[in-house]
Amino acid sequence: MDHFDYRRGQLHAEDVPIGDIAAAVGTPFYVYSASTLRRHYRLFDEALSWGDHLVCFAVKALSNVAVLKVLGDMGAGMDIVSGGEYARARAAGVPGERIVFSGVGKTRAEMRQALEGGIRQFNVESEPELHALSEVATSMGAVAPVAVRLNPDVDARTHAKIATGSRETKFGVPIDRAADVYAEAARLPGIEVVGVDVHIGSQLTDLAPFREAYGKIADVTRMLRAAGHDIRRLDLGGGLGIPYTRSNSAPPLPVEYGRMVQETVGDLGCEIEIEPGRLIAGNAGLLVASVIYVKSGAVRDFLILDAGMNDLVRPAMYEAHHDIVPVRARPPATPTHVYDVVGPVCETGDIFARARPLPPMEPGEAVAFRSAGAYGAVMASEYNSRPLVPEVLVDRDQFAVIRRRPSFDEMINRDTIPEWL
Ligand code: LLP
Repeated sequence: MDHFDYRRGQLHAEDVPIGDIAAAVGTPFYVYSASTLRRHYRLFDEALSWGDHLVCFAVKALSNVAVLKVLGDMGAGMDIVSGGEYARARAAGVPGERIVFSGVGKTRAEMRQALEGGIRQFNVESEPELHALSEVATSMGAVAPVAVRLNPDVDARTHAKIATGSRETKFGVPIDRAADVYAEAARLPGIEVVGVDVHIGSQLTDLAPFREAYGKIADVTRMLRAAGHDIRRLDLGGGLGIPYTRSNSAPPLPVEYGRMVQETVGDLGCEIEIEPGRLIAGNAGLLVASVIYVKSGAVRDFLILDAGMNDLVRPAMYEAHHDIVPVRARPPATPTHVYDVVGPVCETGDIFARARPLPPMEPGEAVAFRSAGAYGAVMASEYNSRPLVPEVLVDRDQFAVIRRRPSFDEMINRDTIPEWL
């Protein structure tokens, strides 16, 4: 469920007409609904209410500091994968004890930054990383709390580019090496083993792969405890999928996910951490764009928008589907016209949707991409020297620009011409 509905003939974000935002900031822009973000966070929080838990929002999905503050103010933790994301979480007021640090390539500088500023846990993905962390922590006279990310070798049954739980991916330590790696962690100075971590992929639409992975994590936790390790936290990662179309059968709900977690690992008495990104942010955001031209093509008509693959790369990168809807409502029985919906970027791949039935569209009118809150703005680039688009936050009847559109000068003044040129 989200808070983007038609009222009085126009798409609204909560109580704000999209047209009002477009008039104030111009298109394209991203708009997020604070009520939807809060609602989705609460669903997970309630789904795990049977035990100790912390819902850590995966900052990579949507990292605007204002969004992080909405969630942080509700008590959310943050799952971060870089020094930049750490800085964002802290700037949003989230204390270090609610931040977990994931990622296969943490640098020593990033480890130091987190240890200095405070960190709940490092999710360590390899032995070399474990040694580096031990060295950094020892040199600072600190102790790093560690969970080792185990790769359970399960097929997440999702898009290959976002499946992380099979053994040939770069992620985690093979689960059959857990005993050795935990023994090593226990031996190293500056390391305190606190838990086990797993994340098998993103946009999972079935609980079965989670169930299989968490079952393996439960077994390994018992084995590690028997070997003397104090495993008191389980970080179960993110990955629960969202409905990208209104017609498709919906993925499992957070409450069903929470029940499955209880069934698989609930008896261990561990504090549960999860790292959802997409389910919290995905359907809490739209990308709003305008039609520049309607161009008749040899095969189909093109709807050429002012947003391109640099603003929303998911269709080009993962063949992802995003529903596209007109901002101005049409009567229910309006006949559709079939368009290829494209951007202005000079690449054949700059196509959002092929042969998409839409109501007949006029140049100048606005359209919205649904489900664009997660992995939308954060994956944008300035390709074709198109400045990053603004982000807007709506909360009931208020809206505010939470990242403004840079001017061309701001964009090009980051470049410098050497004085010898
Ligand atoms: N935890 C870890 C360690 C992760 O790598 C990820 C996502 C998450 C949590 C959050 O997963 P979520 O709940 O959002 O599925 N750019 C791709 C998605 C990449 C996901 C990367 N890792 C896309 O647009 O579909």
